[in-house]
Amino acid sequence: MANVIVIGAQWGDEGKGKITDLLSKSADVVVRYQGGVNAGHTVVVKDRTFKLHLIPSGILYDDTECIIGSGTVIDPEVLIEELDTVEALGVSTKNLYIAQTAHVTMPYHRLIDNAAEERRGSHKIGTTKRGIGPTYADKSERTGLRMLDLMDSAGLREVLSWTIPYKNEILERMYGLDPLDIDTVLEQYVGFANRLRPHIVDASLNIYEALNERRNILFEGAQGTLLDLDHGTYPYVTSSNPVAGGACVGAGVGPTAIDRVIGVAKAYTTRVGEGPFPTEMTGGIGEVLGDRGAEFGTTTGRARRCGWFDAVIGRYAVRINGLDCLAVTKLDVLDTLEEIKVCVGYEIDGVVTKDFPSSGRNFANCTPVYETLPGWQVSTEECRTLEDLPKEALDYLKFLAELMKVPIAIVSVGAGRHQTIVVEDPIHGPKRALLDANGEPVAP
Ligand code: GDP
Ligand code: IMO
Ligand code: MG
Repeated sequence: MANVIVIGAQWGDEGKGKITDLLSKSADVVVRYQGGVNAGHTVVVKDRTFKLHLIPSGILYDDTECIIGSGTVIDPEVLIEELDTVEALGVSTKNLYIAQTAHVTMPYHRLIDNAAEERRGSHKIGTTKRGIGPTYADKSERTGLRMLDLMDSAGLREVLSWTIPYKNEILERMYGLDPLDIDTVLEQYVGFANRLRPHIVDASLNIYEALNERRNILFEGAQGTLLDLDHGTYPYVTSSNPVAGGACVGAGVGPTAIDRVIGVAKAYTTRVGEGPFPTEMTGGIGEVLGDRGAEFGTTTGRARRCGWFDAVIGRYAVRINGLDCLAVTKLDVLDTLEEIKVCVGYEIDGVVTKDFPSSGRNFANCTPVYETLPGWQVSTEECRTLEDLPKEALDYLKFLAELMKVPIAIVSVGAGRHQTIVVEDPIHGPKRALLDANGEPVAP
């Protein structure tokens, strides 16, 4: 048995949904540990496309238990829509469980997210406007509501009787918006509670029991390392901890439960929303990547910004998450290019560094240092083994692995489940070696 964490190694949308779905085949339990309906995970199975926001990507396997963990924030209205959509596509949600301690997104969270973004003007973050930041802020401020609060309508009325007037002051006086009515919100949320009640559990206890029964658990991250509240490109981040360490907190398990950590990265880079992005290309090849990669947000439909692969952030993701191996997705998107660049370092004030700068100012002002590799200019979409790949594509992957000192266990060459090259077993294969003083891997 093995318990694995799957995380995004860039700015989100790396293809975590596809890889989680793939690995869920050998998992008994899949736990989503942070984030909310800001996430959009696409899973393509034959002619069906699933766009998941909160439901773990393991849901497509009949017997897999799926848990929305305590570290998530739940917009019940969107979750119910998602349950309806998935069920309409013929997938059962009987094995879906929701942590009673997960926090709830309320109507005022969405309104404040929108209004605050507008107020920030040119300093906006470019959020998904799903109320994520305000929900996590209330959790920290200890004014939040949890799923278990929804389950008790008398208690809910009591809480809303002071939180709604409190939030109305912000809505009206700070943002000039209409106030919310307690009874309307109460009626709406009691309705949501009734629909979700059968799914509510003590999630960390369920996970603990699964651990003791030696069942395989997969922890599914949303967003990505560079969007992490503590370790990302602050303030252009989300309000939770997508990094591997967040899995333990969000699911409610100790670090001793984790056997390995798998990172997912695109063969290039994308970012949606505001914030610095050193390898971004606004026209030309950036547009080719956007078109070929269909780079539009699953949740908001916004065009994703595109750029070359950035091995500095790749190395950072290996470090911050303790990655054992990498899944590289969307290799096929590079198929038509004559040349491919990889960012191998940043020049900051005339000095070249390979380490991610913790100063936001340095990061925003760095100049990427590139190495150029030849493209392959043939389709990789039908490749199913490394031997099927053109030599230049194989060299490209080897170059990335060498730069980041991490093995590539999976290569994805299309959105479909079958469009995958499994290089080595990502769950049971060899773990990443530690590095010696010169940064070279040492034999375990
Ligand atoms: P996530 O948020 O990390 O789960 O990623 P998204 O689902 O938001 O975005 C990834 C997009 O790329 C989805 O539309 C996937 O169906 C698609 N995708 C995943 N892997 C591949 C791949 O190898 N090639 C291509 N062309 N598309 C892929
Ligand atoms: P998945 O799980 C890509 C970005 C937003 C914005 C910032 C803060 O699909 O990879 P928020 O609404 O969270 O307060 O927005 O984070 N963002 C994502 N970008 N993929 C995601 O999720 C994202 N979730 C949030 O665009 O820049
Ligand atoms: Mg996404």
